[in-house]
Amino acid sequence: MLSETGWEQDSGSSAFRERFEQVRTVVYPGSAEACRDLAAHIRDLVESRAREGRMAVLGLATGSTPVPLYRELIRLHREEGLSFGGVITFNLDEYYGLEPEHPESYRRFMADQLFDHVDLPADQAHLPDGSVPIEEAFASCAAYEEAIVNAGGIDLQILGIGRSGHIGFNEPGSKKDSRTRLIALDRITRRDAAADFLGEEKVPRFAVTMGVGTILEAREIVLLAWGENKAEIVAQAVEGAETEAISASFLQSHPNARFVVDAHAASALTRQRLPWLVGRTTWNKPETRRAVAWLAGLKGKPVLKLVDDEYNETGMGELLTREGSAYDLNIRIFNELQHTITGWPGGKPNADDTNRPEKALPWPKRVLVIAPEPEDDILSMGGTMERLVRQGHELHVLYQTSGSLRVSDDAAAKFASILRMLAEQGSGRSGETGPACGAIWEHQGDYAAAILAEIERKGTFGEPSKNLRLLKALIRRGEARDSCGVLRIPAEAIRFLDLPFYENGRYRRFVPGKEDEDRLGAVLSEIRPDQIYATGHLADPSSVQGICFELLEKALAAMLGEEWLRRLSLWLYRGHQQPLRPYEVEMAVPMSPVQLETKVAAIGRFQTHNSPDNLDGEDNRGLAKAYDRLGLAEYEAIEGFERSRPLGAGAAGDEAISGSGG
Ligand code: F6R
Repeated sequence: MLSETGWEQDSGSSAFRERFEQVRTVVYPGSAEACRDLAAHIRDLVESRAREGRMAVLGLATGSTPVPLYRELIRLHREEGLSFGGVITFNLDEYYGLEPEHPESYRRFMADQLFDHVDLPADQAHLPDGSVPIEEAFASCAAYEEAIVNAGGIDLQILGIGRSGHIGFNEPGSKKDSRTRLIALDRITRRDAAADFLGEEKVPRFAVTMGVGTILEAREIVLLAWGENKAEIVAQAVEGAETEAISASFLQSHPNARFVVDAHAASALTRQRLPWLVGRTTWNKPETRRAVAWLAGLKGKPVLKLVDDEYNETGMGELLTREGSAYDLNIRIFNELQHTITGWPGGKPNADDTNRPEKALPWPKRVLVIAPEPEDDILSMGGTMERLVRQGHELHVLYQTSGSLRVSDDAAAKFASILRMLAEQGSGRSGETGPACGAIWEHQGDYAAAILAEIERKGTFGEPSKNLRLLKALIRRGEARDSCGVLRIPAEAIRFLDLPFYENGRYRRFVPGKEDEDRLGAVLSEIRPDQIYATGHLADPSSVQGICFELLEKALAAMLGEEWLRRLSLWLYRGHQQPLRPYEVEMAVPMSPVQLETKVAAIGRFQTHNSPDNLDGEDNRGLAKAYDRLGLAEYEAIEGFERSRPLGAGAAGDEAISGSGG
């Protein structure tokens, strides 16, 4: 039954470089390639079962991760005639307490993402029932298990992985032999679902999930993971011991399980992070820097104090033979790290820029900070934005999406009720004296009443009207302006693109299109920036950040011949959950305690959606401490950036994108 796809050939080896991995792990450049192969594998399974006159039984997952797989399966169905008539499906889990028609229920998700687009008969698709009364839950779970057995057991189980390490909803503490049951959701899981439910407090507290034991009975298991957010948990599940604390680690003892991950989700595996421990490496510049910084961390020493023996003991002796001695290597790397630090993110005028991250000219620069959702920018680079303005650059801030999905109904209702009160006073209806322009106020009052009525009518999860989405977008817009104001960025410098893929979609279900690309392209050609800051390069490709970055790449690629692109420096900032490690930083912008306070104050202006973690400044303090431990200058806080590699076919050129310092 094995297919001829790259899928099988790629995965079987237990090469030296994978020796830390306790379960087969296949790394693909991106999710698209991985899903193409996996979908082909599923097609082979379905067709071979059909030839045997049997049904193929698939175990399915929900969430962002399998979305590109389902799109590819739909394509195979439409364009290549793959039929699901001979398929039976069992989903892993369902929120408890949601009706099947609830927009966030997994039944609805599966209908939207797969079932409604293929010829799978409705009675062949099974999901755990999240709407049974509590006293019937046990029997309902037992019946689910029985249905799987009656179908002949699961041939192929698809899994995602949560940041808590869960598979299905088997949260930390789940036993290896656990069965389908009700479970309380972990804090991290509820936090990760907060955006879908418009607030953590609205995320269901319980779910029904297949047990780890149920999952392990599948004949073949494939766990998928994309994006930087999954890197740490993937590494722990693949390289750590089997443990109840990470239910995905139990796949290690399954005879036919594999992890299929993209390069970003693989980035914390030893073979990617510390390649010299698992075979020959190229010892190029970034890798050498990474190795030395890692060794300093391991030994708890500053770079300049590392000695020959310490390099030899850790598989890095070859590096010394190239460099001469630890002393020479240490100094070279120390200087490289030192040169990443600059208080002049836009380049320092009239200064020798040979060893600076950013070139001095042109001066001042046209700088474009691009944020997928308002706040992404301020969280990761508020301090740098403040410096860029203070140092006289022409700063533009571009919000790709409105961020309206981050604003709860409560926040919109608060605004509408204030407006209604004002209108009542203004129109004299309240009996108090107010501004004398009654007719205008009546319109405002009607508007406020309509918004409040809609919120009441649609309930927490009903689709908001365009009007309500607009109000939420404007609330977020106001906060973004306010936040930028704290950093002295004038309102005229801020643009809101309100990309349609976001305005017409919801989390995990966005479909970007040509208009998104064109709108972004138009702003880029109008501003023609000398320097861009962007993010999303390592994100799950179906997340807002991932989609926004891909749109940027496409827009830039469409302009590759243009003159301004040759001058452009493109810097990348990282999201909050996966901050840069010191050896990955190519530009480190330090902050004084006062600058950090200002940044935190700016973040605090986003009131409709903020987590206390965002307000402690710890990410930036952490990077400063890491620099300090390497023996570099001791700052209060640092914001870090990496340089973008050349775009697409590289027509913009290495030099163009890499600036003068590298
Ligand atoms: C969903 C499921 C979960 C998800 C996991 C990752 O049916 O069982 O284990 O696979 O939470 O979610 P995403 O893919 O949204 O990152």
